[in-house]
Amino acid sequence: MLELRNLSVTLDNGKEPVEVLRDISLSLKENKIYVMTGPNGGGKSSIAKAIMGIYPASKGQILLDGQDITALEIHERARLGIGYAFQQPPRFKGIQVRDFLTLAGGPDARVNPCNLLIDVGLCAQDYLEREMDASFSGGELKRVEIASILARRLKVAVFDEPEAGIDLWSFQKLTETFRDLHQRQETTLVIISHQERILRLADEVILVSGGRIADITSHEKILGDIRRIDSDCLCRQGCNREGRADAECHR
Ligand SMILES: Nc1ncnc2c1ncn2[C@@H]1O[C@H](COP(=O)(O)OP(=O)(O)O)[C@@H](O)[C@H]1O
Ligand SMILES: [Mg+2]
Repeated sequence: MLELRNLSVTLDNGKEPVEVLRDISLSLKENKIYVMTGPNGGGKSSIAKAIMGIYPASKGQILLDGQDITALEIHERARLGIGYAFQQPPRFKGIQVRDFLTLAGGPDARVNPCNLLIDVGLCAQDYLEREMDASFSGGELKRVEIASILARRLKVAVFDEPEAGIDLWSFQKLTETFRDLHQRQETTLVIISHQERILRLADEVILVSGGRIADITSHEKILGDIRRIDSDCLCRQGCNREGRADAECHR
């Protein structure tokens, strides 16, 4: 359904070119949940941005249902059914939450903004009339942005660390929402996360590190590995020092 073929991304930030992704190959199937995890700076958000067309491919291809979309712009990919909820969403000044969600859903939106807010753990009454300005906390903004992605019927929806800044109750609700969305629609979900609750939703876990795919595995295997690291090493850095947390141990 969505395929990345030997995708590399090199960004030129004015000084020198930085290779952020190297030779990524992935094949994502319809109506599955993929959870992408791995160390900070590993390249997870960059993969999401390459899928959305925010970062251009320097090598390789991206295909959606067999169509080569590598050269398509962000809005063209959005029209084909790809959506991305940013790790750090932008603030939209001067727009009310209700209008933002209605616009996101498009002309044939069937989802009501109230229900969307409830799905992400926000009380609709408190938020519908609010403007998405500086008074919004990072967590509130993230949840409204997630709701705007839920408003659309998408082929591929990518959520980048949806747990950030969210209280436990809302997080529980959000996890249920992802599960329901998966059951209701033909959407392929790609969720970038480090949370066990989210990992447990995964049909496959994609481990990203050093700008590459390090492994594609099951959540049972990943969670087993994490538990082993936790029990072996008090500093939880995976250095296998058998229960000691001494100065050397903190890498
Ligand atoms: N626009 C950019 N310009 C330069 N380097 C970038 C840019 N975006 C990401 N990177 C670098 O690419 C690497 C991967 O970043 P990112 O994809 O955000 O990782 P993750 O989401 O896994 O934490 C990091 O070293 C980061 O500094
Ligand atoms: Mg990231």
